[in-house]
Amino acid sequence: MSDTLKLDSTSVSSLSEDSERKAVDPEDVNWVIRNRRSTKPRCLNGEKIEDEIVWQILENANWAPTHGLTQPWRFKVFTGEGLHTLANFQADLYKKLTPESSFKADKYKRMKTNVLSASHVIVICMKRQQSEKLPEVEEIEAIACSVQNMALTATAYGVCSFWGSGGVTYTEELKDFLGLEERDRCFGYLYLGYSDTPAKDSSRSPIQSKVEWFG
Ligand SMILES: Cc1cc2nc3c(=O)[nH]c(=O)nc-3n(C[C@H](O)[C@H](O)[C@H](O)COP(=O)(O)O)c2cc1C
Repeated sequence: MSDTLKLDSTSVSSLSEDSERKAVDPEDVNWVIRNRRSTKPRCLNGEKIEDEIVWQILENANWAPTHGLTQPWRFKVFTGEGLHTLANFQADLYKKLTPESSFKADKYKRMKTNVLSASHVIVICMKRQQSEKLPEVEEIEAIACSVQNMALTATAYGVCSFWGSGGVTYTEELKDFLGLEERDRCFGYLYLGYSDTPAKDSSRSPIQSKVEWFG
């Protein structure tokens, strides 16, 4: 059985209806993109997101562009008891990997608790193409696109998100814990949840300073 998903698949219930639509209001797209904010895990209130919404978020990750259709994104979703497992694992690993002289008790405590205020933590992983024909950077770029799809979908549903890549993100031990193979990668956690506090403002310098226009 093919595991590829077509736009008219029934796996996302409202999709076939939506595919009749020619376009969305560009203002809506602008709104979602410009109102996506990173909400720190400590600002999340522990309220649960319905799993159906999380599946919509994951579904949209799956529609990211992917050179050669390698679809390298793999996601490990932690929620409920799973969050405790992840929290204990990362705190213990921090303790194991940190020399006594640089060990910080408050960081250890943070690692024990920071994921617990999220509703779901999606660990962002990459499955490296078996043949390695594509440059790895293109797989990483596809992953980044998939994460942005998730963050924007979350925003559209009123869900807060935060991509965190600190702590034990790039360790071999985390890869083992997640069941990744040697050439696979982990790029951090996408924390999802709700917050009672307004998101922190964000800013960008003008796009004109980053664009060269020819012709
Ligand atoms: C690949 C990636 C990794 C990130 N890792 C962290 C992180 O470890 N800690 C952190 O505070 N923010 C992290 N961020 C979020 C940025 O800090 C955030 O996007 C930036 O502050 C701008 O805020 P905004 O997203 O609300 O506009 C990461 C963002 C990306 C794209």
